[in-house]
Amino acid sequence: MIPIDDLIVAFDKGLRTVFAPARSVGAMPGAELPEAGLDAAQRGLAAALMRVNHAGEVCAQALYQGQALTARDSSARAALQLAAQEETEHLAWTERRIAELGGHKSMLNPLWYAGSFAIGAAAGLLGDKWNLGFLAETERQVVRHLEGHLGRLPAEDRKSRAIVGQMRDDEARHATSALKHGGAELPAPVRAAMQASSKVMTGTAFLL
Ligand SMILES: [Fe+2]
Ligand SMILES: [Fe+2]
Repeated sequence: MIPIDDLIVAFDKGLRTVFAPARSVGAMPGAELPEAGLDAAQRGLAAALMRVNHAGEVCAQALYQGQALTARDSSARAALQLAAQEETEHLAWTERRIAELGGHKSMLNPLWYAGSFAIGAAAGLLGDKWNLGFLAETERQVVRHLEGHLGRLPAEDRKSRAIVGQMRDDEARHATSALKHGGAELPAPVRAAMQASSKVMTGTAFLL
């Protein structure tokens, strides 16, 4: 049984993630770089890609929240918490970059959050081995996705690229850490299903 207090804290965190501005405690990657003179099409593309990444970070918040509620092992819990802190930075950076580009956040963020929270909690109930395995696979897929974005973002938009590059490095570390704490390799059909569902999310968030 999950204590009711933990559920209330998780619910409060969810509302904040979706509705309140995210706060960053560290320096934003690329903050020192000058703003490039992007044309309207480049700016629109960069804003849409950063909206997708922001929606991904909303999912990451939910996933880590859901898992932290259910993770059993204390060292796994600590690793999840450390990664979750970096995810909060990512959330703040992408949110700020969207605003700088004159874009908007995904209107479906509450839906992404709720879905990911449920998936995270369900993975957590399967035990640490699968919980951490699920997390590692998620992070690996995110790394590939971010690499794809580095191929699509305008070369001139060094500010967005600096954020995405740092996120990619952090997510790769999160994957390694989850495996180190005992995450298992997921069966291929599960990995494929995860990839298919993230495609729906990223495709929709690009538009809405
Ligand atoms: Fe992240
Ligand atoms: Fe991550």
